[in-house]
Amino acid sequence: MYRVFSGMRPTGRLHLGHMAGALTNWVALQEENECYYSIVDWHALMSDYADPSKLRGNTMEVLLDWLAVGLDPEKCAIFVQSHVKEHIELHMALSMIMPLGWLERNPTYKEQILNLQNKDLSTYGFLGYPVLMASDILVYKANQVPVGEDQSAHLELSREIARRFNHFYGNGGEIFPEPAIMLTPNPKIPGTDGRKMSKSYGNSLDIADEIPVLDKKIRTMMTDPARERRTDKGEPGKCPVWDLHRFFNPDAEQKAELADGCRTAGIGCIDCKKALMVHVTEHMAPIHERRKRFESKMGDLDDILSAGAKKAQECAGRTMSEVYEVLGMLAPNAGRQ
Ligand code: TRP
Repeated sequence: MYRVFSGMRPTGRLHLGHMAGALTNWVALQEENECYYSIVDWHALMSDYADPSKLRGNTMEVLLDWLAVGLDPEKCAIFVQSHVKEHIELHMALSMIMPLGWLERNPTYKEQILNLQNKDLSTYGFLGYPVLMASDILVYKANQVPVGEDQSAHLELSREIARRFNHFYGNGGEIFPEPAIMLTPNPKIPGTDGRKMSKSYGNSLDIADEIPVLDKKIRTMMTDPARERRTDKGEPGKCPVWDLHRFFNPDAEQKAELADGCRTAGIGCIDCKKALMVHVTEHMAPIHERRKRFESKMGDLDDILSAGAKKAQECAGRTMSEVYEVLGMLAPNAGRQ
């Protein structure tokens, strides 16, 4: 059994890429591990501080998507990062010992500064992104962190700062375990234009998209570019719609028939997409149903978040008592005890 932490920034509705990659694994992990899943609103603010108008709404959308795909508040702690103040307290403590050089050399930092030129990211807060991320993980002493490969540099920094803290304050022992990156299978889910699915490309199929919306998006989705006409032969391996079949279609026999029909031009892309929609509908209908059920009971969502924050706070609070102690800080009311 592992202690697991992971987080997502609330930047809007999640798409099928998030679902197939991260969330399917998160749902599986909650069965046998102690899992903490956090909507990391402070992290969203680090890059979107200039316009926080959508933050609150986006936080709720992510929560609804999480619950829709089956994260279960009875089995894991689901909470908003800013509701558990210990994240910020540990961030402050770690910032004391975080070498500036580590942050300045962080490849993700340099990349983001270049890629997001429309945002001014030369702020103190954004430079400290990995410090907060390390705090998220270490405040629970989590040992496994399911994230994508793109987060591996951040995870490495989390391990290094844990080691450094232990070295300074551990008295030869270990206060923070070094968290491992858990790289789980990440099926390829391309967007409607064949590129990587991403909200910023405008090519995403969202978890919350109703079946008719998904149907419309998939009907106009790109296929193997070699199949310009119905009579052209295609190759499933070059078709983004085929990647969706791989994920959504459990019927191996049907898949073999479709692949053959594509290669021989026996069937058209429309036929293949129609077959896909049957499986997408089967997969997504219960997810949409669950999402609607939660949407209609907004009060319950507050309860879920406060229960999640409470569960998280119990664990994080224990860590912070230890941290204040080793940092030599005076406990409140210490004189009276
Ligand atoms: N940086 C992560 C991302 O952009 C989100 C995140 C913040 C996170 N804190 C975390 C992920 C702690 C794992 C653990 O995807």
